[in-house]
Amino acid sequence: MSVKCSFCSNKAITKLRYAKLSLCSKHFVEYVEKRFSKIISKNKLFKNMDKVVVAVSGGKDSVTLLHLLHKVSKEFNFEIIGLTIDLGIRKYSVESVEKALKNYEMLNIKYKVIELKNKYGFSIDDIAKYRRKAGIKKPICSICGTIKRYIMNKYALEIGANAIATGHNLDDMVYYIFSSLYSGRVDNLAKISIYSPSEFKFVAKVKPLAYISEKETLLYAMLRKLPFNYNVCPYARLRTFHEYIRKTSNVLEENVPGLKITFARMFLEKINPILYSHYLSEKKFKECKICGMPTTGKICSFCKIKSAMEKVLKK
Ligand code: AMP
Ligand code: FES
Ligand code: ZN
Ligand code: ZN
Repeated sequence: MSVKCSFCSNKAITKLRYAKLSLCSKHFVEYVEKRFSKIISKNKLFKNMDKVVVAVSGGKDSVTLLHLLHKVSKEFNFEIIGLTIDLGIRKYSVESVEKALKNYEMLNIKYKVIELKNKYGFSIDDIAKYRRKAGIKKPICSICGTIKRYIMNKYALEIGANAIATGHNLDDMVYYIFSSLYSGRVDNLAKISIYSPSEFKFVAKVKPLAYISEKETLLYAMLRKLPFNYNVCPYARLRTFHEYIRKTSNVLEENVPGLKITFARMFLEKINPILYSHYLSEKKFKECKICGMPTTGKICSFCKIKSAMEKVLKK
């Protein structure tokens, strides 16, 4: 026998055990939109902001984020500027950028595409190929993360935006918290937040999907027929630990519905503020000697990667 929606007589297409709800497609879409709005209000994510850069990779999370933010931008009174970084990852980047642009055009949103290879002389594929030769020890996804954060921040700073919104979802938050605990990276734990204020030359960062799961963003994007890249980055398969934590946290969630939200909420609301005040509020940043962007040393991580890559690519 088919299960009925908790709000109407239609057939339910999904069951949200943490909320004790079964929902039809219309009520699922409404439910996500309401929760999204509540998360923004409760955490005062866009208070006194008039220009927000939305980082859109072309994947399900950031595409969902763009549409949800577009819906609330009038109510919260801010303008959206889309930013897409073409990372130069074979076919994957071509498809991702194409999907991101489709969404900007659908919503009539102003946007900027920054091509890594064109602007800085190397792509993520170049890094994958020459990383060892260049003496870069960190894993490819971690270098890619540094590059993306640098470009997002630099662009947002240049256009005078108040914040950068990213599509990190609940599962990303659970993974970051767990992996930072596991590796004892207290400095990383102190940085995991739904809202990071602006400081020195860092633009504020917001993660409005922090309490919305990957399953929910995927279903929302599919039900609303949003164009997004279904494929995942080819380098993601190297992240075996990440995949293992993702699967395990979903097994825990099956047994204890609501565990992921509670885990993230307890950390973000109770633990992070204490860690932040101990470890980050005193942190002193300087301008990178090469590019002028913030760093704790003399040269920022991005410039180090760039100059290492320049050396090997010139040969
Ligand atoms: P990831 O680091 O791939 O887990 O992505 C986290 C978030 O960063 C996404 O939801 C986007 O908001 C943003 N992002 C990732 N890749 C890109 C990209 N190529 N261009 C713009 N934003 C991106
Ligand atoms: Fe950066 Fe996959 S998106 S390595
Ligand atoms: Zn319904
Ligand atoms: Zn620099």
